[in-house]
Amino acid sequence: MKKILFVCLGNICRSPAAEGTMINLLNKSNRAHEFLVDSAGTSAYHAGERPDERMVSAAQKRKIHLPSLSRPLKSDDFLNFDYIICMDKSNMSNAKKLLPDQNSLKKLSIMTDYFLNKDYQKQFFEIPDPYYGGEEDFNLVLDLVEDACRGFLEKIKND
Ligand code: 4NP
Repeated sequence: MKKILFVCLGNICRSPAAEGTMINLLNKSNRAHEFLVDSAGTSAYHAGERPDERMVSAAQKRKIHLPSLSRPLKSDDFLNFDYIICMDKSNMSNAKKLLPDQNSLKKLSIMTDYFLNKDYQKQFFEIPDPYYGGEEDFNLVLDLVEDACRGFLEKIKND
């Protein structure tokens, strides 16, 4: 079983959206048994909380369930997961501080590396933080993470 961990800052908006979107894609293709999918935050600000209501309702409109409870990223996650996928560059640098060994660095990547959509590839070098934004920002996150989740599954096909 392949283990995937999505990471953002608060673990209440972007990484729960990526987690729920990936689970939804896997369920639709009857591949859920092949993967364990989880998410975490580089901060503990919202530890124990359900995802942000605005993200929950944007996801619900797409029939995507967000099962996560916010928890902080920890060093052991690098030993327990195969892929640690960050939403932005700040998440990447904070995650690197928790690397237990040099070998774990190869598990770390940024979500934008997996875009299939050429416009997204040109325009977005991070998944933008929607926390201080509006409904359109939450919808954009869902669009971006869905494309990247599809691209990720393509990319790791032969791993
Ligand atoms: P996330 O969004 O990293 O996508 O979960 C945020 C959630 C909370 C905060 C910032 C970003 N915050 O500052 O509390």
